[in-house]
Order: sequence, then C-alpha cells, then structure tokens
Amino acid sequence: MTKKIAILSGDGIGPEIIEQALRVLGALGLDLEMNTAPVGGAAYDLHGHPLPPETLKLAQESDAILFGAVGDWKYDQLARELRPEQAILGLRKALGLFANLRPAILYPQLANASSLKPEIVAGLDILIVRELTGDIYFGQPRGERVVAEGPFKGERQGFDTMHYAESEIRRIAHVAFQAAAKRQGRLCSVDKANVLETSQFWRDIVIDVAREYPDIELSHMYVDNAAMQLVRAPKAFDVIVTGNLFGDILSDEAAMLTGSIGMLPSASLNASNQGLYEPSHGSAPDIAGKDVANPLATILSAAMLLRYSLNLPEQAQRIEAAVQNVLEQGLRTADIHEEGTRRVGTAEMGDAVLRALS
Ligand code: IPM
Ligand code: MG
Repeated sequence: MTKKIAILSGDGIGPEIIEQALRVLGALGLDLEMNTAPVGGAAYDLHGHPLPPETLKLAQESDAILFGAVGDWKYDQLARELRPEQAILGLRKALGLFANLRPAILYPQLANASSLKPEIVAGLDILIVRELTGDIYFGQPRGERVVAEGPFKGERQGFDTMHYAESEIRRIAHVAFQAAAKRQGRLCSVDKANVLETSQFWRDIVIDVAREYPDIELSHMYVDNAAMQLVRAPKAFDVIVTGNLFGDILSDEAAMLTGSIGMLPSASLNASNQGLYEPSHGSAPDIAGKDVANPLATILSAAMLLRYSLNLPEQAQRIEAAVQNVLEQGLRTADIHEEGTRRVGTAEMGDAVLRALS
C-alpha cells in the first residue's frame, strides 16, 4: 500500500537538507506518496501563520512527516503565536506526538569531534526519551497577571504551570522501558523530585510501571545531577526518560557530547506510530543556501521514519550503513571536518550517500 509522507522543509537550511534526504528516499524504490507544504517562517510569509490549516491537514493525513527546521531571527519580533516555533509545538500537540526519541551516538569515525576527552565519549550511545506534549510547555494557566498578595503584591508577574497526568507519565514510561529492553536494559528516569510535586508524582508512577518490566534496571536521578553526570561519565547511561522541559535541555547537552549535532536524527511518535522526523539541530539561517550544511542528520531521520512509522527496518539499515560508509571514506561537511578528511558540501554529501547505497 502506498504510504503518505508529508514533507515540511521549513526555514534556513531546512530545504537544502530535506532535498538530500528526499534523494536518498527516492533511491530506495519504495511506494511512497510525497506531498510538500510550507511550515514555520516560510509559511508565515506565504499565509500569515507558521502552521496553516492546509499544512496541519496534510500532516494529519500522512503516515509520517519529514521535517526540516524552523526559525529565523527575522521572526523574533512577532507575537508568540505567530513565531515559527509554534509550528512544531502545534504539530506535536495536534498529532499527539508524545514520545520523542533522541539518540546521541558518537560515531567512531568522529571520535575527535567531541569537546570531551575521547576516553570519556568513545563508543557513546545514549537514547533520550523525552515526553513531548505535556509539562510546563503546555500547562494551563499561563500568561501575565497582577500579583494578588505577598511581597510582590500589585506587581505584574509572568507565570506557567507544570503538571503531568498519570496516563501521560505511564505511556512515556512504557515507551522508555520497551526501548531499554531492546538495548542494554538500563533506564534512568530524570526528575526534580526533591523540589517539585510534579516530579515526585512522575517518580511514583515510573516506579509503578517498572513492575511490568522486571528485567530492566531502573534508576532515578535529579536533573541537576543528570546534567553533571552527562559530562562526567556519559557512557554510564543507556536510556534516559524525562519530562518535556528537562528533556529539551538534556537532549541538547547529550547531542553536544558527540560534537556533531549535525549527525543526530530524532523521532516524535504518537500512539499509532504516526511520527514526525527531524534533525536535532536547528535552522541555522547564517549558513542557509550556502551548500555547507550537514544533511546527514536529516538523512538519518528519514531512516528512523522508515523504521518506526513504515516498519521497514532493512531499508532503514541500508541508509544507516550508507552514512557509515561515507564517514569511513573520510567525507565530512564543515561542521565535522578535521585534518586528514575531505571537506564536502551539502549536495556532494548527498551524492556520496546515494553512491554508497547502490
Ligand atoms: C526542540 C526545540 C523546541 C522545543 C523549540 C523549537 C520549541 O528546542 O525540539 O528541542 O523546545 O521543544
Ligand atoms: Mg530543544
């Protein structure tokens, strides 16, 4: 059966990295129907909204979404609801993409790319499972108000609300335990239970879900300590599960351990494995259109798309092997370039992956 993929390239380097991923997908000879739609700042420019109704409809009707990146400084002055970032938040919420999988893998060929000593990061392979549709990101009420009492009475105040419902915690915990079962069998739940009620509740529920996974070794860590352990001894982690806000921060930290955020894909899944796939890096408007961006994170995101939403693990592996192959050949985009390797542009990197595929 034909599978439908929505292609949302977005802003900055989005279009050029998506172009390379599409060439790679196209070379596999699969029965895919691709439809493109504007998103982010590009959609705001065309339709006055970062997530126009037609784009959302296309996404909802697709089996998977391949997403580039959104954002540009030129939209920073817009009202919050019109900023490019609202497109990605809106898609997550509307499609119920609650499970965000962010692998942080240090490819052996890129061992020197990390700012940490090679012995600390060599062989690093962490999976961060971030809850993506709850927490303080979406909690209501939020906004600005006047303080009613206390030392700041009469002053204006900005506020947000952190909360997690039991079912929200249960479903992300199940995703994390099942992911750990396919890996080294170790899961670390990260929270701030020493201070936050939401976190204490999170921890209680994760402990309860753990009873269904007796073979998984569960540990708990406060988020401040986790941030420290990630740079001190990152290889001690296998799978990390955490809420939306902590996951946002820790996944950037974990990505940077590999020194090559341009290499890292991500998947955001809902309960029916419909998913949005995007590189972990941003839109990098400063290098847009210059043919220097690294397309590999997006190409690897396409591989994740095949694995998780289309259930085509062999095709996913073909792509991943091709990426390994071009790294072994010594080809590097500017972000991962080092002495003794050959620097190539975005399109040339795409060419090389295509050659390695065939
Ligand atoms: C991410 C990004 C988003 C987030 C922004 C763009 C809204 O930082 O995907 O990690 O905070 O979730
Ligand atoms: Mg982030």
